[in-house]
Amino acid sequence: MAVLCNFRHFLLKKRLIVVGTDDDGKIARAGGSGLQRSACHVLRGDIVEDQKITKILVSEEEVREMVARLGADITAHYQGIQKELMVIGLLRGSFIFMADLVRQIKIPLVVDFMTVSSYGDGTISSGDVKVVMDLDSSIEGRDVLLVEDIVDTGRTFSKVIRMMRNRNPRSLKTCTFLNKPGARLVDIQIDFCGVDIANEFAVGYGLDYAQGYRNLPYVGVLKPD
Ligand code: PRP
Repeated sequence: MAVLCNFRHFLLKKRLIVVGTDDDGKIARAGGSGLQRSACHVLRGDIVEDQKITKILVSEEEVREMVARLGADITAHYQGIQKELMVIGLLRGSFIFMADLVRQIKIPLVVDFMTVSSYGDGTISSGDVKVVMDLDSSIEGRDVLLVEDIVDTGRTFSKVIRMMRNRNPRSLKTCTFLNKPGARLVDIQIDFCGVDIANEFAVGYGLDYAQGYRNLPYVGVLKPD
């Protein structure tokens, strides 16, 4: 049975966050216990302005919490599997999430990557999903976890899931950091999900616009042109 994104869990944890900068230009966040200095050097107001980000959807702290929760869920699910878990990331978008996620999965695993592309340099999915680079290893008879940064229309994941099933893995589960149910055109099962987001164009934490913004440590929304 598909595990639905635990959006309520996310909302419960989410507090109103007001972003400003202190004397050093480091971010200061108001919320809960009042204005606090954060160790974060990246969320400076001026950098957010320069990068044309209109709002932050998932902060660094929320990213950490979400990845830890997913890692714990995945670890619990695969306890006792006979061979290492095969964790397969879809590039390029998942590279940062993959790196963080595998460090939170506390069972033996191996990783592999497949490069797929569906958006080109635009903001609208072309629907033409291309496999640019295939896996290096066979998944036959293996327990496989497919990892995406975002499921939007579902076309990319759907195509890759079909392709993987044809290769006869022992089991196949799916994990995405972000899920955009409002944009879905193809019905797919997501077993481990970070958070549902609204139908806005998200960038950062691996997600790009025209290949840029992937290095933002949070997920934000671009200002309209
Ligand atoms: C993005 C993202 C997913 C896909 C989701 O990839 O990484 O793979 O789009 O969209 P969909 O659900 O509508 O298919 P993109 O093609 O932009 O390539 P990238 O991974 O290099 O960013």
